[in-house]
Amino acid sequence: MLDRRALITAALAGPPLLLAGRAGAAATLTSPCVISTWDFGVAANQAAWAVLSKGGSALDAVEAGARVPEADLNNHSVGRAGYPDRDGHVTLDASIMDADGNCGAVAGLEHIAHPISVARRVMERTPHVLLVGDGALQFALEQGFPREELLTPESRAAWREWLKTAKYRPAANSEVDTYGKGAGGAANHDTIGMLALDAKGELAGACTTSGMAWKLRGRVGDSPIIGAGLYVDGAVGAATSTGVGEEVIRNVGSFLVVELMRQGHPPEEACKAAVKRILDRKPSAKDLQVGFLALNTRGEVGAWSIQKGFSYALCDGAKQDALLPGPSFY
Ligand code: GLY
Repeated sequence: MLDRRALITAALAGPPLLLAGRAGAAATLTSPCVISTWDFGVAANQAAWAVLSKGGSALDAVEAGARVPEADLNNHSVGRAGYPDRDGHVTLDASIMDADGNCGAVAGLEHIAHPISVARRVMERTPHVLLVGDGALQFALEQGFPREELLTPESRAAWREWLKTAKYRPAANSEVDTYGKGAGGAANHDTIGMLALDAKGELAGACTTSGMAWKLRGRVGDSPIIGAGLYVDGAVGAATSTGVGEEVIRNVGSFLVVELMRQGHPPEEACKAAVKRILDRKPSAKDLQVGFLALNTRGEVGAWSIQKGFSYALCDGAKQDALLPGPSFY
């Protein structure tokens, strides 16, 4: 498990990946570069970096990176080993988008360990954007993805423990609190959102999650909803979100961040304004967690969340394992 505090310290003390950003940008990276939500974004970034550093595309990089937490058995909020819904089904949501507005997504996908790769197939091999449930599974199987059991013994034990009280109570920052913990950890939800800028200056983004733990069967969060959990515009920048997806969907959060950047706001200001929009429209959301992460075409990075505890990982040619605490309102 990554030592979050040590990584943050290293990032703050370390050289020069983080050139001082202009006001409103938390950092400025040199392309190619990639950024991701949460502590486990460090490992995802390194997989993406293996693609970017060889001149690969941002799209290939974010897919490769997103597959890392999808395969990580210590991560109970993304992919295999994700915590199940109320009825014990692991259902996965993912989306991917390139600089030209091409995008694909799956929601409520069961039995397929890498929903991000299915989302990419939706983008590249169908005229559609979003496939859900049984149709998404049928498509994935037709595309040759193996059908697998994604509910691990550890996740099943956590679900059984939850069933004893069956309290549906989303808690902030469970992404960090539950990472690497076994059954009985305070379970909840999370997402990895990744944004990359390649050597050609092309942007792409990916977002993948098992959604909120113990959710109602059929619940879909923000991650597979283009504009909510992920948005990319090659002329402006890209944004992604993590946290309680319902609040992000209500405010079309990632699209809002990109539109604010289009109006000239640096990424951090844009993320802050999007979080403020959520709180202005629903003050009780202060008890939840939502975080936004953004990257513009100049390599400027920004993040903001409702509550403290949100972290994000940065990677470029100078440093591949930086991790920063995101600023927040509370
Ligand atoms: N942000 C992930 C979800 O709410 O499902």
